[in-house]
Amino acid sequence: MNRMRQWLYDRTGVDRLARAMLHERIAGGARWRYVFGSALVFLFVVQALTGVLLMTVYSPSATTAWSSVWYIQTQMTLGWLVRGVHHYSAQAFVVVAAVHVVQVVLAKAYRPPREFNWWLGMALLGVVLGAGLTGYLLPWDQRGYWATKVATNILGLTPVIGEWLQRVVIGGDEYGHLTLTRFHALHVAVLPMIFVLLTAAHVALFRRHGVTVEPRLAARGEGWFWPKQALYDGAACAVVLAIVAALASYSHAVRGDMLLDAPADPAASDYPARPEWYFLFLFQMLKYFEGPTLEVVGAMVIPAAVTLIAASFPFVHRLLPGRAAHRLVATTMFALIGGVWWLTWGALRDDRAPDAALVAAIEARQARGESLTSADAAALRARRFQEQRAAAAVIAERAFALAATQGIPPEGPLGLLRGDPVLQGPRLFAAHCAACHRFDGHDGTGRTPPEPATAADLAGFGTAGWIRGFLAEPQANRYFGLITRPDGRPGHTRMSRLLERLREENAAEADAERLEGDLDAVAAYLAGEAAAPGKPGATADAQVLRGRSVFETVCNECHAYQGERTGTTLAPEMYGYGSAAWIAAMIRDPAHDTLYRSAGREPAIMPSFGGRLNDQEIELIAAWLRMPREADDP
Ligand code: HEC
Ligand code: HEC
Repeated sequence: MNRMRQWLYDRTGVDRLARAMLHERIAGGARWRYVFGSALVFLFVVQALTGVLLMTVYSPSATTAWSSVWYIQTQMTLGWLVRGVHHYSAQAFVVVAAVHVVQVVLAKAYRPPREFNWWLGMALLGVVLGAGLTGYLLPWDQRGYWATKVATNILGLTPVIGEWLQRVVIGGDEYGHLTLTRFHALHVAVLPMIFVLLTAAHVALFRRHGVTVEPRLAARGEGWFWPKQALYDGAACAVVLAIVAALASYSHAVRGDMLLDAPADPAASDYPARPEWYFLFLFQMLKYFEGPTLEVVGAMVIPAAVTLIAASFPFVHRLLPGRAAHRLVATTMFALIGGVWWLTWGALRDDRAPDAALVAAIEARQARGESLTSADAAALRARRFQEQRAAAAVIAERAFALAATQGIPPEGPLGLLRGDPVLQGPRLFAAHCAACHRFDGHDGTGRTPPEPATAADLAGFGTAGWIRGFLAEPQANRYFGLITRPDGRPGHTRMSRLLERLREENAAEADAERLEGDLDAVAAYLAGEAAAPGKPGATADAQVLRGRSVFETVCNECHAYQGERTGTTLAPEMYGYGSAAWIAAMIRDPAHDTLYRSAGREPAIMPSFGGRLNDQEIELIAAWLRMPREADDP
């Protein structure tokens, strides 16, 4: 055994290396307060290891990044843990680095002869923040996409070289795919390399000067790094890792947090962009510096000034007597930390959901034309932020559900969302249809449009419930009651007149009952046309067969069925009535001869959307209107 060891030492010199690393003298002995530097190195190793694991799957391109992260998070064995640890270690990095800085300042370790180490530390902090910033973009989700867009726009404010700098970072004029590949290169290669070099220099200089101790402690004599300090450091690293792993597990298992937002959508410009929490203070500060010139002050001048102030800490005692100098430095540091704290808290407070009653009161005042105070405006902004965030959460949830059930198409996850009626239907309905129609009283997305409704409420359109309700009272507001002709008279009253006549003719109790039964049956039959167009076969439900025969004897006089009718009055085609295809035909051209026609006594009022919406959009609205929903058919 001994010979083996001797052989190894002889050939490699690892014994000397181990001695050089572990036999470090520590003036005043091992102490817990020295663990933070080691914890940071440890966190870097954790980031490097988890980062390389992530890189084995992550695929940096605008079409694949989100999918690969989604895959890591949901499909890969323990992928969520690797990614969760990477995610929370990044946050832990910032926290531990802050504690490390405080400890260094309190220990007066920023003073000569350690100037260079202080500056190296500052540079390292910059690299860490840079890694956080670049990493935020890599999942190519909404959160990272919009926050980074804000960040790179700020970069563009840099005096003189701003525009050039922005172009270099985002990879051209357009923020997009090349921005992602550049950030990826920075994140996985450039910044880690700089981090390693700076850390090597940082540690070497630290070794050169040793720990900074009070003379009182130094008098206790020297200790060694091995084993006591190594034990302390190891324990600290274990605690940090345990916390990070616990956070990752908690967010995954308990909160079900995907640590991922919906795929980046460059068209979704109303996304409420917010940076990572450790950049919130900068974000908040910029709110106080609006306008092109002031913005430069907030985004560049102040951060630069703070950096210069921190960099000059080692020189303060040249101007002031020792104690006063240290007090000034420590006070300045705590003031800066306090400022960051205050701004961060302010950013979070500004976004908190405001009281609903308060918002209602403000809106009432706004409606009366009264001017709003800045607090009122802030409450409205917070409400808007909360709404936008809730809407974004819906999209994210939907994206995860679609990815899980349908898989992600080769053109990327955005195609999944763009082709999804659940997401696009309400949006398109609100934009194009809600000026006249309603959906269950709202505009499809849940809001009430400003204009009063002038056509039917289309929630449940084509279901037996909707049709039966229509046949009971076509002039109800939910159906045709709100439609008026251009000259102001009520529009589309033919069905209402027909039904009045039928009810008059069947006034006797037994006849009335049969008539209502016929209407029930024809509604059931027409609902079947919507679900699966075509005449019912002989084996169909008795109710449906009765409905079809009512249709043939009564309705078919005016309503064509595959172009055939028995009478002369023109009414909309009923083959496949209420189906997605029928609705799509209606949206495309309500004035088509088989529908409401362009001429005659009551031509179509609804405009044709064939030229305004493309086929996909029309089909998305139609599919969404036809989607089965709870409470459609009671
Ligand atoms: C300018 C008002 C207006 C707009 C905008 C409008 N419609 Fe209509 N819509 C009507 C009117 C009025 C009718 C009744 C037939 C007619 O006169 O054209 C109707 C009928 C319909 C019908 C047949 C059911 C019924 O109530 O008669 C469907 C389905 C429909 N619209 C869907 C849509 C969709 C989807 C959009 C949006 C792409 C839309 N409409 C936009 C006014 C409008
Ligand atoms: C006298 C001709 C006539 C007869 C008979 C008739 N309808 Fe209609 N129907 C119309 C006309 C015209 C419209 C267009 C709206 C209007 O002017 O009332 C219409 C509209 C409708 C609509 C709404 C179409 C839309 O835009 O969504 C339904 C549903 C309907 N009829 C069902 C029936 C049923 C069921 C019967 C048989 C019980 C029937 N109709 C009999 C003329 C008729």
